[in-house]
Amino acid sequence: MAKLNNENVDWQIVRYSEIIEHILRNYHIKLKKELPEIEKLVYTIFKVHFEDSGDILEKVHRLFGQLKTILESHIIKEERALFYMIMDYEKEPSEELLGDIMKIVENVEGDNKEIVELIEGINKVTKNYLVPSTGCPTYVNTYNKLKEMGEGLIEHIAIESIMFNRLKNK
Ligand SMILES: [Fe+2]
Repeated sequence: MAKLNNENVDWQIVRYSEIIEHILRNYHIKLKKELPEIEKLVYTIFKVHFEDSGDILEKVHRLFGQLKTILESHIIKEERALFYMIMDYEKEPSEELLGDIMKIVENVEGDNKEIVELIEGINKVTKNYLVPSTGCPTYVNTYNKLKEMGEGLIEHIAIESIMFNRLKNK
């Protein structure tokens, strides 16, 4: 299967199985690796910079914790159920299967909405990842990773949303 990149791809016509492959390869694998790493970094800077930036980092720590929890659940629901069901539907469409898919889609879309709100919350609390003058290299690294994760999530969710909308319009 050819590798897709985000540019010049019309997600309205790409096969569902290829979209899923793209999401798994470019977003889910990375998230599973990075969530625990970023969690440790966020915890570390919260502890080390408690005196100078504790008020901001307490909020970042809390928002990231919520984000990680929802993302783990998002990944499980998609990888253990939804994506298989969509690939089955592509091979053999049926009204019944589409109905079951829609129930999970609704649930995952609720999660995705919360994910976007949490990213916006982190953007706001960190003033778009503005490192304070007291920030050390770990602080910079943590903010860079958080920013990159947030940007990846926005793309990831946008592509999923196109796929879900295509299924809704069946
Ligand atoms: Fe996903």
